[in-house]
Amino acid sequence: MKALITGITGQDGFYLSKLLLERNYEVHGLIRRSSNINTNRIDPLISEYLPSGQLNLHYSDLTDSSSLTNLINKLLPDEVYNLAAQSHVAVSFKNPIYTTQTGTIGTVTILETIRNTEKNIKFYQASSSEMFGGVTGESLNEDSTFYPKSPYAAAKVFSHNVTKIYRESYDIFAVNGILFNHESPLRGETFVTRKISRAVGRIYQNIQKKVTLGNLDASRDWGFAGDYTYGMYKMLQHTKPDDWVLATGETHTVKEFADEAFKIVGLNWEDYVEYSEKHERPNEVHHLLGDPSKVKKELGWEPKTSFKDLVKMMVEEDIKLAEKEKVLIDNNLLKPSWEHSN
Ligand code: NAP
Ligand code: GDD
Repeated sequence: MKALITGITGQDGFYLSKLLLERNYEVHGLIRRSSNINTNRIDPLISEYLPSGQLNLHYSDLTDSSSLTNLINKLLPDEVYNLAAQSHVAVSFKNPIYTTQTGTIGTVTILETIRNTEKNIKFYQASSSEMFGGVTGESLNEDSTFYPKSPYAAAKVFSHNVTKIYRESYDIFAVNGILFNHESPLRGETFVTRKISRAVGRIYQNIQKKVTLGNLDASRDWGFAGDYTYGMYKMLQHTKPDDWVLATGETHTVKEFADEAFKIVGLNWEDYVEYSEKHERPNEVHHLLGDPSKVKKELGWEPKTSFKDLVKMMVEEDIKLAEKEKVLIDNNLLKPSWEHSN
């Protein structure tokens, strides 16, 4: 089996490509050129699988339609997982056009290319619980109404709809995975869970004093990224394409996440967390809770990692990272800037 993954250098890109490589897939990943190395997350996979040719990386960009089309036509993969996006909701208000371009053009380009090949290429679209907007307290499923509240969410709604349209119009095996928030030690450091776990690790190692957050009352249905990427794979192995929600069915506030994370190192979060309005968004998604009953019934998928285990996994990894940073700081090889960034 041959898979093409856009967004292979992201959090989900790592867990998904690891899973596929371990199942003997030939994996092709799309990377974009940056002035700094951007393959850090997948470096362990590069050293293990690139030399044999089981893993391959190609320069492209979701906004560069011709390069995407050429790549798919050249590789003719069995499966395409479209994970790439400007995925930060707050940033999407600052860079709305780029977020929209990345979140829409690539999806329709890939679908159009698949439609024009002779091969039955299966397609996975990374849809998001952000599309629901968190306007009610109810548990959300595949039939719940979308109420996008950011340029990011609006672009995701477009891609979700166009995926469904290509499935219904051209009989393409095209699937939307509507994923609720999923985290890991590889989560981007400006998302709230990782920002907190990074801060806990550094505060514990005495190289940070405070962490500044925005809306502490927002609640999210947080799961583990490794469980969710297995769900993506399961969707493409099903007999027929459809849309499925992946969620834990539990929701926790940002405050609860901070409380749990600081408790792991015996500290009280209220002594270290400060509030700043600068982390508030122009339009907030206050509450997200997912209902994963359909995926459980039809695909047998269930999350394996509890909220407490997820927080523990992230904090423990970030304590180790901070320990290495402390050595560098003690030897004058690193100047901490984290309290001024994010
Ligand atoms: P992530 O860590 O932010 O990774 C995003 C990936 O997209 C990175 O590989 C990034 O490349 C790539 N990318 C960004 N803009 C691109 C462009 N113009 N062309 C090509 N590649 C581009 O995101 P994630 O958490 O793994 O999420 C994966 C997908 O699921 C995203 O589409 C996200 O919106 C969606 N999603 C995520 C969650 C969640 O809770 N994690 C929930 C629902 C849906 P660089 O490494 O070069 O920046
Ligand atoms: N990032 C961030 N930083 N968020 C904060 C902060 C802060 O300092 N303080 C409070 N929050 C709140 C946000 O306002 C939001 O309500 C919540 O914490 C979660 O924010 P993020 O971790 O940035 O994630 P998100 O829920 O906005 O988006 C993530 O999940 C979506 C799925 O629902 C991203 O991964 C999206 O790509 C994904 O689609």
